[in-house]
Amino acid sequence: MKGIIRKLAETHSLSLEEYESLITERNDESSRLLRELAVKARREIYGNTVYIRGLIEVSNICRNDCLYCGIRRSNLNCERYRLTPDEILECADEGYGLGFRTFVLQGGEDSYFGDEVLGGIVREIKTKHPDCAVTLSMGERSRESYRYLRECGADRYLLRHETADSEHYAKLHPSEMSYDNRMKCLSDLRELGYQVGCGFMVGSPFQTAKNLAEDLKFVETFKPEMCGIGPFIPHKDTPFRDYPAGTVELTCYLLSVIRLIHPFVLLPSTTALGTVDPLGREKGIMSGANVVMPNLSPVNVRKKYELYDNKICTGEESAQCRECLSNRMLKTGYEIVIDRGDIKRSV
Ligand code: SAM
Ligand code: FES
Repeated sequence: MKGIIRKLAETHSLSLEEYESLITERNDESSRLLRELAVKARREIYGNTVYIRGLIEVSNICRNDCLYCGIRRSNLNCERYRLTPDEILECADEGYGLGFRTFVLQGGEDSYFGDEVLGGIVREIKTKHPDCAVTLSMGERSRESYRYLRECGADRYLLRHETADSEHYAKLHPSEMSYDNRMKCLSDLRELGYQVGCGFMVGSPFQTAKNLAEDLKFVETFKPEMCGIGPFIPHKDTPFRDYPAGTVELTCYLLSVIRLIHPFVLLPSTTALGTVDPLGREKGIMSGANVVMPNLSPVNVRKKYELYDNKICTGEESAQCRECLSNRMLKTGYEIVIDRGDIKRSV
């Protein structure tokens, strides 16, 4: 194990079999070594700084029906909402005052946010706050749409690949969704000059160690600028309601592995991690993550963007979330900075 971990730290690449054994044969000692090397790699590039992204959850209306997701279209218990362009701009303005220099617009695949509406919002944010980056996380769209939004000023796009195994993908999604299209979207985004984020859930139903090894190999070869991973957490109104949540331990372990694959990658310690463990986000940062994404959505819609049960930060005002995370990071020896938080250099 130690040999594989050192090889990863030095060459940033392993075979599928090596990634798999890194997962199946992990123990306390190997976890410690992996974490130490990941934290060292992160410190050499990003010091003790943590980047923040202001997350604006623009709509929970979705045409998709991903089996794991609490806002899937089949969930009739979900109270739907959509923010107006003015409301979204107000969230960004408030966020700017709180020190955010990146805004992430995330939502279900809601046809209201066609190119003109979404492009208009991106343009307005960029005009008003030219020193900020805009990240979109609005699901699968056509190449033309991605191109248009890029021309409107969008800098980054987050689209988790969810799983790099097409058979596993088919077990997590309805038949009208396809692994091939998701991969095409990711390559379109890359070709159009976005900084791209992929990612996956840890402990999703039917996931095997081999699947995770495939995810890691995909991350290695795709070379994303960002990589979002968090534990799967069941939602009571989905077909996966009775499946167990992913663990903090394995999520943090994989954060360390990803840091060693791409030392420069922007790696969030996710809200899902903070939901399965009150200190989950701190543990993520201490495993090699360097980004947190406090919520900037209006408080009256927070509870409605419930992707999984018991999601945290649904009652606090934006300023409180920002403050809370700052304090949490300081306690672990890290510091949130006012910065666009671009990748230090391409990996
Ligand atoms: N519609 C956009 C998309 O599909 O990329 C953005 C919103 S989608 C809800 C954002 C991410 O939430 C998904 O990529 C998925 O990995 C994560 N997610 C959804 N349901 C989840 C669950 N039950 N547990 C943990 N993460 C979940
Ligand atoms: Fe559309 Fe989850 S099914 S955002």
